Amino acid sequence: MPHADWHILGPGAIGSLFAWHLAEAGCSVRLLTRHPGESARLITLDDQTSPAHTSATRAFHVDHQDTPIQRLLVTVKAHQTAAALESIRHRIDAGSLILFLQNGMGTWDCAKALFPATRWLVGTTTEGSWRAADRHIIHAGRGETWIGSLNPAWSNDAVHLVDALKSTLLHPGHDPQILQRLWRKLAVNCAINPLTVLYDCRNGELLQKPAALRQMEAVCLEVERVMGAALGGVTVEPLLPLVRAVAEKTGANHSSMLQDYRRGQPTEIEFITGYLVAEGLRLGIATPENAAILDAIRQLAPAGSR
Ligand code: PAF
Repeated sequence: MPHADWHILGPGAIGSLFAWHLAEAGCSVRLLTRHPGESARLITLDDQTSPAHTSATRAFHVDHQDTPIQRLLVTVKAHQTAAALESIRHRIDAGSLILFLQNGMGTWDCAKALFPATRWLVGTTTEGSWRAADRHIIHAGRGETWIGSLNPAWSNDAVHLVDALKSTLLHPGHDPQILQRLWRKLAVNCAINPLTVLYDCRNGELLQKPAALRQMEAVCLEVERVMGAALGGVTVEPLLPLVRAVAEKTGANHSSMLQDYRRGQPTEIEFITGYLVAEGLRLGIATPENAAILDAIRQLAPAGSR
């Protein structure tokens, strides 16, 4: 891609994968981290998606300057978004372009408040990436990345960004219906992530548990209703087959929420089930199954004590 400058806010499993491939395609890539003393970071990427299973280490500059940011990829955990954006507020201006690539919905609301003049896009990815260690990323499976704009005035920005990213290995697509896609991803996250925490199991194991399956079905029905109303009264196709397919495909995985919970870290529940329940309330649609799940996760004892 022609010499674009990227900053990565949140170089975790997905942020590092994208940082790696942007750098590989010739972009200048800088990481934004919470460690003031850190000036460079070595990231090792094991590529299990290629037949050769290559592994390589690349050095990234960690940026603590005050200069304006051209393109910002936001991959921090949903609940860290507001504080992370606040910390670089002085570097974002009307010329910046922000891309949110996170689980959950509504994280972009703080961008509206913090930088009203700045353009931002949203994306969703199913690239299978996980952290074997702090700076060691495994790209375990190929997926799809879709990018779009929630503001029609910025759809050309989405088209241009996607064009520019076409030369990276992750070659995303432009989705003019990105909001629908984000809702379907939200359904998957609502129906899998919190249940894997409550049942303390891998994604695929949910499908073997009749009680969990009943909950997944009820969650999907509620998301269908809220999603249909949020999109202006459209009929939404059944979401359970999609959720089942993802649970099967990622059957051996521990969901990101279960991983966060086991590490004793805050989960993204407020931006997943919390968002769905809040949207239900706003639109006058009851979501008792999701509300009960939200409550159960909020009340969980810290990992290790149950
Ligand atoms: O958050 C996650 O873990 C993933 O989005 C998903 C799709 C549930 C697969 O593990």
